[in-house]
Amino acid sequence: MAGFLEGKNIAITGGGAGIGKAIAMAVAAEGANIVVADYGVAMDGSDPSSEVADAAVAEIQAAGGQAVAVAGDISEFDVGEAVVAAACDNWGTIDGVVCPAGVLRERMLFNMSEDEWDHVIAVHLKGHFNVYRAAFARMRKQETGGSLVGFTSGAFTASTAQANYSAAKGGIVSLTRSAAMIAASLKLRGGPPINANCIAPVAKTRMSENVPFEIETGEPEDIAPMALYLLSDAGRDVNAQIYTVVGKRISVWNQPIEVRTMMSHDDQWTPESIAARFDEVGQEPNPFITDLERRMAEMAKEGEG
Ligand SMILES: NC(=O)c1ccc[n+]([C@@H]2O[C@H](COP(=O)([O-])OP(=O)(O)OC[C@H]3O[C@@H](n4cnc5c(N)ncnc54)[C@H](O)[C@@H]3O)[C@@H](O)[C@H]2O)c1
Repeated sequence: MAGFLEGKNIAITGGGAGIGKAIAMAVAAEGANIVVADYGVAMDGSDPSSEVADAAVAEIQAAGGQAVAVAGDISEFDVGEAVVAAACDNWGTIDGVVCPAGVLRERMLFNMSEDEWDHVIAVHLKGHFNVYRAAFARMRKQETGGSLVGFTSGAFTASTAQANYSAAKGGIVSLTRSAAMIAASLKLRGGPPINANCIAPVAKTRMSENVPFEIETGEPEDIAPMALYLLSDAGRDVNAQIYTVVGKRISVWNQPIEVRTMMSHDDQWTPESIAARFDEVGQEPNPFITDLERRMAEMAKEGEG
């Protein structure tokens, strides 16, 4: 499929390592020019270095591709603008952004420090906002539009040890759906084709190394084809979706909708009338709590062995 993204200009945050690097290499191999935006940090966000972004750029160039590095902190508003400007200043347009840059600071909610919360929300959620905002502002003025590809996680549903990460990943889903809705409304009014979707990946990288239970996983390179599809003209009509990508599996997530309703027979509900009729609306089974029970039983069994 050489040339699938020929002539496109794509920015990839976290493009110097892990899944982002695999996507950067694959996007470059398909003929696109790349902005590698990577702060070159350790998994907890410490020790920044420009070497990571520079090394990825050198590798793309050695393979015959075009790339430039932006080694800034994506949680800073101006860095989002700089990443998008790097594509526009060098090659004229920004046709797609992919946002896998991320960090982990694991802690149970009740022990989490303010800094652990702020940092993870800033890198993931504000990092997406910074890039989406700068890219969308340009894409809406380009006849050819563009693609926003966010990076969430199955943990957006809930997480025991990563409440900060889970909240950021849930925020990214809502932010991406909002971008998708704006894109759809622009298109209905004759605007350019813009789409916004999220990938929830699982792959063997430093970030997934310490998961304390068996998970279905694969290689970072397995994630790239779906990112490429969403960035391409072929995938431009795909909008407001979340896809799990792991190994050979791609699955689409449902859209959140209300599933049951009860109406008050009086002017207003009271706690007593809710208690009397609560079963009419009831609770929705939470598959993640069920799965948690299964995993904890597994871990207890391993602990005994
Ligand atoms: N690996 C998995 O199994 C998995 C599972 C679910 C979700 N994800 C998500 O996929 C994405 C990629 O994960 P990965 O496993 O490749 O991670 P990784 O740790 O291998 O790579 C992350 C990259 O982001 C960069 N980065 C971190 N903070 C930054 C900042 N402030 N500014 C710019 N760059 C920064 C790092 O320097 C690094 O190169 C992340 O958003 C992660 O949450 C990964």
